[in-house]
Amino acid sequence: MNAPIPLQKDKPALTDVQALRDSARRHIEEGAVTERYSADRDKVLEMLNEALATELVCVLRYRHDYFMARGIHSHAVATEFLEHSNAELAHADQIAERIVQLGGEPDLNPDAITGRSHAEYRIGKTLQEALKENLVAERIAIESYREMVQFVGDDDPTTRRMLEEILAVEEEHADDLADLLQDQARRK
Ligand SMILES: [Fe+2]
Ligand SMILES: [Fe+2]
Repeated sequence: MNAPIPLQKDKPALTDVQALRDSARRHIEEGAVTERYSADRDKVLEMLNEALATELVCVLRYRHDYFMARGIHSHAVATEFLEHSNAELAHADQIAERIVQLGGEPDLNPDAITGRSHAEYRIGKTLQEALKENLVAERIAIESYREMVQFVGDDDPTTRRMLEEILAVEEEHADDLADLLQDQARRK
């Protein structure tokens, strides 16, 4: 057995190259998941499927609102809804891709999606209400992504980085919606 090479006292030791190579060869059917993957994989997969469901509910809500946004002043808002819907779909794809890399299966069964989603499919009756509902959903997404980032911590840096990137976009979305909401209020 190759002993790890000690570094400084407070830093974790690096494994020597041969041990790394040997470890990589074992369980190659696990794909991207190696022996050192220290996160609770089942938990991470469950969490990612919840995030996937949340994104898909947001895709549908934003798309509904895009088609329903009518009136001379709603053009900018409608465009924003469509952009957000497409961004949420891109997030869903990123998450599904990561689930597969981790050896899981993205659950795209429509019957299960509503129950698993953190955000709700709530439709506003007016443009203002629609903006508000979307803002609430974004704020829910922001909170849950923040929690997921903390949960993953240093155990799965790739998943964490993806979640952080998505989180930053959700914050932009919330910011856009807050601006549009203010504009709408000013018009009244
Ligand atoms: Fe998203
Ligand atoms: Fe978003």
